[in-house]
Amino acid sequence: MFFGTQTINEKGHLEVGGCDTVELAGNHGTPLYVVDEEALRQRCVEYREAFQDKAPSATVAFATKAFLCKSMARLACEAGLHLDVASLGELRLVAEAGVAMEKVTLHGNYKKDEDLEAALDLGVGLVALDSTDEYRRLSQLAAERGIRQRCILRVSPGIDAHTLDAISTGRNDTKFGITVESGAALTAVEECLSMPGIELIGIHSHIGSQILELEPFQLLAAKLMDLLLSAREKTGWNPELVVLGGGLGIQYEESDNPPELRSLAEAIVDGIEREAAARGLETPRIGIEPGRSIVGELGLTLYEIGPIKTVPSADGNTRTYVSVDGGLSDNPRPVMYGSPYPVILANRAGEEASSEVRISGRHCETDTLVPRALLPAPKSGDLLAVQCTGAYNHTMASNYNFFYRPAVVFVEQGKAREVVRRETQEDLLARDLG
Ligand code: LLP
Repeated sequence: MFFGTQTINEKGHLEVGGCDTVELAGNHGTPLYVVDEEALRQRCVEYREAFQDKAPSATVAFATKAFLCKSMARLACEAGLHLDVASLGELRLVAEAGVAMEKVTLHGNYKKDEDLEAALDLGVGLVALDSTDEYRRLSQLAAERGIRQRCILRVSPGIDAHTLDAISTGRNDTKFGITVESGAALTAVEECLSMPGIELIGIHSHIGSQILELEPFQLLAAKLMDLLLSAREKTGWNPELVVLGGGLGIQYEESDNPPELRSLAEAIVDGIEREAAARGLETPRIGIEPGRSIVGELGLTLYEIGPIKTVPSADGNTRTYVSVDGGLSDNPRPVMYGSPYPVILANRAGEEASSEVRISGRHCETDTLVPRALLPAPKSGDLLAVQCTGAYNHTMASNYNFFYRPAVVFVEQGKAREVVRRETQEDLLARDLG
């Protein structure tokens, strides 16, 4: 599979953004995160246009937890997207990137006072309220500053998005948001409307991630409109905004078939319009917050292949373990979620893939990256590209085994720009006070 501008050049090397991946590895070292800048910019614009063509007032906010660096924050904003941040660190990074704070929403199920204070002081556009405790604290902090903070209330609508347990977040049994079914969300709306430091402008729900069907989003539209109807009946509230979170999946495997952006936009916009009309409600402005489906397919990781071992396998055959110079610390997702990844032998991309091997990392545990990869028989010194690592890799990387986190390179039209440098021993030692 090829994504974005990926192609095979005349040397038989994988090329992305007009850059030869073998040269990228040589110039920037491995492991290396490579981001297809032109395709990414185009994807951001396509996302916004898909929604705004259906509903001109719709907003698309990039969920920065999927992938964040200053260049990404600016790229998303220049493409007309808003940003969703989920921590003080993310908030400060996007502030440093110089993006307009009114385009930023602060999320998180446990926002400490320092997080809320920073949001108020920086002037974020929205705070997504996640608990009773939080909105009471926020109201007080805002009132002390003579501010009314624009907020949305995150609710859990009782929807199972049929994705992995760890990333299915819309069920009743979740730590996120305030439950609709028990009536708690309605009570919270009522209370927020009366709080001096809060201007409640809408509701929010994010039901999960790597969702490959449209139906959960349509169900969500109906559930949210039910809540708005009850809220109107109880309080007369006419909210301005409904945010349906992120969650659209990507093609990690040939068999994954994510809906087109225009189909997603149609399902969501038509769903909200239809469900609002059926209840006699005005159609609110629509917001969504995709992360993975913006950047996931447009990043890849380059690794150098090291030791290769063929060993007896449990089924009486043999298995070939191919070790690469990264693993769990730069991509924890296979170990955490059993997530599949497509691979290409980047320096021999044109050769027939006839060997089945297991790709392993170099950590002190069994950190399998790809259990069954089909490649042209790999040799030590070859360059492996693991595709679809644009989301939840750079942002979830760790220093396990004291490995240095990789650099991030943006590539476009034959030019490579290092936007995050590789970590150094000095970076790591700087925190150790001896
Ligand atoms: N909005 C909210 C409030 C979220 O919590 C998330 C993701 C998103 C938007 C973006 O969701 P996306 O479009 O990327 O699916 N570490 C996991 C994913 C966790 C997602 C957490 N929230 C993984 O690697 O699969």
